[in-house]
Amino acid sequence: MLVSLFICPLCQSPLTPAADTWRCDGSLNPKQTNHPFDVARQGYVNLLPVQQKKSKAPGDSQASIEARKRFLHAGHYQPLNDLICQKMLALLSSIGQVNWLDIGCGEGYYTQSMAQLGSDVMDTLIAADISKPAVMEIARTSKAESKLWYQQDKESATQSTAIYPLVTSAAHLPLRAGSVTGISSIFSPILPEAFAEVLADDGYLIIAKPDVGHLATMRDALFDDVREHDSDKFLTELSPYFTLLDTHRINTELTLSAGDLADLMTMTPYAYRARSEKRQALLIAVKENAFNTEAKFVVYVLRKIADK
Ligand SMILES: C[S@@+](CC[C@H](N)C(=O)[O-])C[C@H]1O[C@@H](n2cnc3c(N)ncnc32)[C@H](O)[C@@H]1O
Ligand SMILES: [Zn+2]
Repeated sequence: MLVSLFICPLCQSPLTPAADTWRCDGSLNPKQTNHPFDVARQGYVNLLPVQQKKSKAPGDSQASIEARKRFLHAGHYQPLNDLICQKMLALLSSIGQVNWLDIGCGEGYYTQSMAQLGSDVMDTLIAADISKPAVMEIARTSKAESKLWYQQDKESATQSTAIYPLVTSAAHLPLRAGSVTGISSIFSPILPEAFAEVLADDGYLIIAKPDVGHLATMRDALFDDVREHDSDKFLTELSPYFTLLDTHRINTELTLSAGDLADLMTMTPYAYRARSEKRQALLIAVKENAFNTEAKFVVYVLRKIADK
């Protein structure tokens, strides 16, 4: 990496990764001093300054991360994962240096699959989330698989995509303007201006969202009055910066055990809003018979309008 991809979250000076401590060069810091950021034992870097933290433990909790990990690793959303990776492969295979940002990566189910596209397709994969337990999880897995940035030997034939797990806010990305080839936001926040800022001209944005009717039978069982997902509103907000290239809809039948359903409710924020009697009644009913529902997703592929 010749020009630093990263910038300091405190003074915006170029920030250089290392295996132990990342340091900015202080060039934009009025005091001209460096800011150090230690690499945690698990292999992530915390680039979220306290002043950008809106709560003590922002982002998803440990419990929802564990539930999501169990649910996703059981393969229930595999068709969506495959679709996202296919789209990325088609977009990226003819591009030279690829730096990809997966924002709101969670525990990294989709991120790990993106990394499996290999270093011929993707050089750098920034796995970013505001939740420390989420980033810790993807860092641990990546480290065990020798996929962290400092575990890559440029000379080696076995080099893989370099993963950089970062605790950061989507609103204040510690990335140089125009440095990123593409961003994925899988059920995660969408910040049009912040994304356009870090993307290269013609850079890509892939968004996955629940579609109308997602988990309808589960929501019918949990709520008296089911409000539909408003899938398209954010497209208007993106339109000054991005052109929509493609929209894909994908539906998957799910047959869920009581354990799967409990995990799905824990990882799905709106399920918390259900009355606890309704949640319990549903879980008891599912002990007898598996629960059938349908997952419905929509994936948007967008391209940044140059000079935005
Ligand atoms: C519904 S989860 C999706 C996780 C993962 N992409 C997946 O689909 O498995 C949303 C994620 O966005 C993260 N998040 C929420 N607000 C954020 C922000 N402002 N900046 C970065 N990440 C954020 C949460 O911590 C959570 O991990
Ligand atoms: Zn700095």
